[in-house]
Formats: sequence, structure tokens, C-alpha cells
Amino acid sequence: MKKKIKLAIVGTGSRGFGCFGQLLSKRDDVDLVALCDTNPVRVRAAAELLNISPRFYGSIDEMAKKETLDGVIITTPDCEHYACAMKALKTGWNVLIDKPLATNAKDGKALIRQAKKSGKSLMIGFNLRHSEVLKRLKKLIDDGVLGRVFIAENREFYGGGRTYMSRWNRSFAKTGGLWIHKASHDFDIFNWLLGFPKPLRVSSFAAVNVLDKDHLPFKLERNIKPGPDCNHCHYQKKCKDSYVLSGDALKLWGDEAVAADGYVKNVCMYLSDKDNHDNGLAMVEYEGGIKVSLFETFICNTSDRIYTIAGDKAVAEVSLTNRTITVTPRWGGDVVTYHVEIPEGGHGGADPSLVDTFCRIVRGEEQSTSTAEHGLLATALGQAAEMSRRQHRMVEMSEVLS
Ligand SMILES: NC(=O)c1ccc[n+]([C@@H]2O[C@H](COP(=O)([O-])OP(=O)(O)OC[C@H]3O[C@@H](n4cnc5c(N)ncnc54)[C@H](O)[C@@H]3O)[C@@H](O)[C@H]2O)c1
Repeated sequence: MKKKIKLAIVGTGSRGFGCFGQLLSKRDDVDLVALCDTNPVRVRAAAELLNISPRFYGSIDEMAKKETLDGVIITTPDCEHYACAMKALKTGWNVLIDKPLATNAKDGKALIRQAKKSGKSLMIGFNLRHSEVLKRLKKLIDDGVLGRVFIAENREFYGGGRTYMSRWNRSFAKTGGLWIHKASHDFDIFNWLLGFPKPLRVSSFAAVNVLDKDHLPFKLERNIKPGPDCNHCHYQKKCKDSYVLSGDALKLWGDEAVAADGYVKNVCMYLSDKDNHDNGLAMVEYEGGIKVSLFETFICNTSDRIYTIAGDKAVAEVSLTNRTITVTPRWGGDVVTYHVEIPEGGHGGADPSLVDTFCRIVRGEEQSTSTAEHGLLATALGQAAEMSRRQHRMVEMSEVLS
């Protein structure tokens, strides 16, 4: 039996509780000794729902004074990643930050310097790297089945992304923009699939076109305002986007938790203040003439990532949801469709694999391949795309990375 590693989670919300807490609390080789969250109601509710008895902390500074840990998982809103990870690294803990590395490249670089100084691992939770479909696609590319890849596209449809406009995710100050918050996954996958060519320049267009006060999906009644959140909204039953919290979610996110810090998870997404986009396009040009484009919409009822990757021998078309990869050779021949088996678990089985990897890294059994340097590249691409959309111009990567 392996010696148990001591871990803690900072931020016990959707990911901290729903993914990492659930997975780690069931492992024999892990002692989840502490949970940390600024919200005292949520942190205790998370422990109760996980059926564990950890020590509780309201801040990572407090936790650092008392705990001796092997590693920590940071699942706070993105704007807190820098301060929490910096503290964890200085304390001498291995760190997993659930993407993105940080909300800007400057903070990301400082974290990389600190990780080197502390001699600790700083892994980024790029769970898409653990998708069996994308692992198969990468193998096909690496085996040369597509030939020399020169253009790639990913169209992301994210039904769940609508809820971004109800939560902190809608705010540029808390995320650095959705091209970082959401698309850091996707920029990382492009970089990884293509073998990390150097990105040169980025352009993007993105806006809020639907999830605003002019596009309420129901007719207003005289003198009755919608909101302020779905649980207390008069139009709850008429609104097709209504997100009413019930059951265990109320323990984590209900009125008692809201009273502690004012964080409401289901503010009316049409009326909320927002400065992040609800749909957009971004393009990157890499060295060697490779081009990629990313289409993102949060106004849809499905979730899928649909890729087209073209090389000089064949084109691959991929659907993560359908778990298929179809390869069409350039000069005829058999069109082959691969149906990829996926294991149980969140994000198509990717989350358990991500957690497993972090545990092995903490044990010193392997090195991280989702490195902080890769996290920096994805954050920097997102920052450049965000600058492009705001400043209406193409942004050179040297502007964010030098
Ligand atoms: N890899 C993925 O697929 C994926 C999916 C969703 C979210 N994420 C990332 O996970 C992170 C968490 O997102 P979420 O949706 O779980 O958010 P959430 O709002 O559900 O949870 C965040 C929690 O952090 C707590 N918190 C805030 N500031 C804190 C601080 N300084 N110290 C301790 N706790 C603090 C909040 O009270 C809340 O409980 C984000 O960085 C997000 O980008 C990753």
C-alpha cells in the first residue's frame, strides 16, 4: 500500500467540490486534510457532502501557517490564481491550478519563476489533454497520417457557457476575458496538437450579441421586473434559460452561503453587468505559416468541440461529443472513421485522468506535461486575443510575451 499524500483544495465551488473533492475523497492514496474557501458556509457544506472531516480555512495564508502538505489544488476564480499559487509555491507545496495559469502573462511569468525557485511542480489543469479522443487525434498527427499540418479549426459550442453570464466568469477583471478563461483550454490544445510551434500574431472579434437586456427570452409583464436571480425570479417558469438551484446545490449556493459573501451563482444572465463576450472568433498565425481559428458560442443547447485539421496528406474531422475522428486522404483511398472508447468520469473521462496524473507528480513518479510554460503560452494567446478584440487590431505575440 502506498504512503498517503496530504492534499488540500483551495476554492470548494463547482470544480473544487464537484470534480477534485469528489475524486480525491474516494482515493485510498490521498488524505484530503484541509479545505479552504473564503465562504465559510460553502466550505463546510462541501465537506459534509463529501463525507469527510478536514480542517477548514478561510484563506490560504491561514492554511500555510498551520498545514504541512504535499500538494494543493487551486480552484478559485481565475483572478485569485496568482496570489494563491504564489503563496502555495513559497510555502513549498506542489501545485495544480485548474486552468488558466493566471489572468495575464506577467503574473504567469512570475509564477514560473517562483516554481523554479521553490523547486516545486506547477501543473495546469488542462483536462482536454486527457481526452481519449484528442489523445488519439494527436497520435494520428504525430504518426504522420495527416502529413504536414498547415491549418486547423475548432468550433466550440458550449451550452454551459451561458451560465458564465450569471457568475464571476462574465467579468473581465475576474478572468482577464473569456479568451483566457475559456479559450486557454483551446489554445493549449492547438499548441499541443501542432507540436508547440511559435505563435506569431493573433486577431479576434467577439461581443455580447444575445445575452443582454434587449434579448430576454420571454415577454415582460407590466411593472414586473425579472431577476434578480433565477431562484427569486417571477419569470422562472417562462424563461428557457432559467437555472433554479435545488437539492444539494442550495447547501453550497443557497441564501445562507450568499449571506456570507454576496456571491450569487444564478444572477439573471440577461441583466447582469458583463464585459466578457457571449460569442467570438479568434485566429492565430504560427511560425511556418500554420494557421488556426477558434469559434466560440455560448448560445446553444449542446456542448461539443468540432475540429478540422488539414495536412498535406489528409484532413481529419473530429467531434468530441460523438467521439469520432474521420480521416479523408487527399488523393482518394479509404475514408476511415475512428470511434473512440472513453472511460467514466467528468469531461469524457478526462477529469479522473487529470487527478491521477497530479497524484503521481506529487509522489515524484512522473513529471508534469501540462507545464506552467504551456499555461503561460495559452494565457498569452488569450491575452493577445482579448487585446485584439478590444483594440480592433492584430496583436503581435511579442507584445505580451517579451
Ligand atoms: N478544467 C475545467 O474543465 C474547468 C471547468 C470549470 C472551471 N474551471 C476553473 O476552475 C476554477 C474554479 O471555477 P468554478 O467554476 O469551480 O468556480 P466557483 O465559483 O464554482 O468556485 C470558486 C470557489 O472559490 C472560492 N474562493 C474565491 N476566492 C477565494 C480565495 N481567495 N481563497 C479561497 N477560496 C476562494 C469561492 O467562494 C468559491 O467557492 C476556475 O479557475 C475556472 O477557470 C476549470
